[in-house]
Amino acid sequence: MPSLDPAIRDALEARLRFYRELGVTDFYRRVVGPSQTIIAAFETDTLNAPQEGTPIPPRKPMQSLPPVAPEVAPTDRASALQLIREDIGDCTRCALHKGRNKIVFADGDPNARLLFVGEGPGADEDAQGLPFVGRAGQLLNNMIAAMGLKREEVYIANVVKCRPPQNRTPEPEEANTCSPFLFRQIDVVRPEVIVALGATAATYLLGQRQPLAGLRGRIHSFRGSKLIVTYHPAFLLRDPRQKKEAWADLQIAMRELGLKAKSS
Ligand code: URA
Repeated sequence: MPSLDPAIRDALEARLRFYRELGVTDFYRRVVGPSQTIIAAFETDTLNAPQEGTPIPPRKPMQSLPPVAPEVAPTDRASALQLIREDIGDCTRCALHKGRNKIVFADGDPNARLLFVGEGPGADEDAQGLPFVGRAGQLLNNMIAAMGLKREEVYIANVVKCRPPQNRTPEPEEANTCSPFLFRQIDVVRPEVIVALGATAATYLLGQRQPLAGLRGRIHSFRGSKLIVTYHPAFLLRDPRQKKEAWADLQIAMRELGLKAKSS
């Protein structure tokens, strides 16, 4: 038997551990399909245009949102995202800036087909300037790996980009001030599927507060992407019994992306 690269072995072990926690004991080999088509020319005029038939949740007018269309047309998604980051600048638009260490913009592939939205940075994220790098992030990494993907292949962002004090839920004022930047990021990445992690992400993407139970298990739509709601990884760490339900939600996302889901 050929020996395995230690990095691949570690990744495989992590994925097997996650499957085992879900009660899955038999496995299949995924056939990797043709790679994703990358749009060569970026259509700046459709950056913020809703797709036909896609309901956009109403949101509060922004007091200080910078102009939506950049003056210099970006020619690719990475540049378009960089412009949004520059618009955010050293942000002081809401009270969260007072306690933050680093703005957590996002992580991952600007051309991703799958985009995860969390709530807001915690202590580790605030220190590193990257989303989902603490314990909840480790579980999210395992969830992504269980879907047959790498973290670098997806895009990860949050409703708010600065850490709320004591990791509290962002106030509506904070979330409404910050989320337009997230919406612009989504408009640039234009993922096929968005997974909202937890109630805060679901609330600000769908524009309505509802119990998570009523939102899970079906496909919503958001700005032209399919939106699936599941539990936040931090909640799954506290109540691992819900991992099975989360896995069912992720399998909906996998089906929509044409990733082979386990048959059982
Ligand atoms: N929880 C979140 O919602 N986002 C992060 O980036 C980290 C933890």
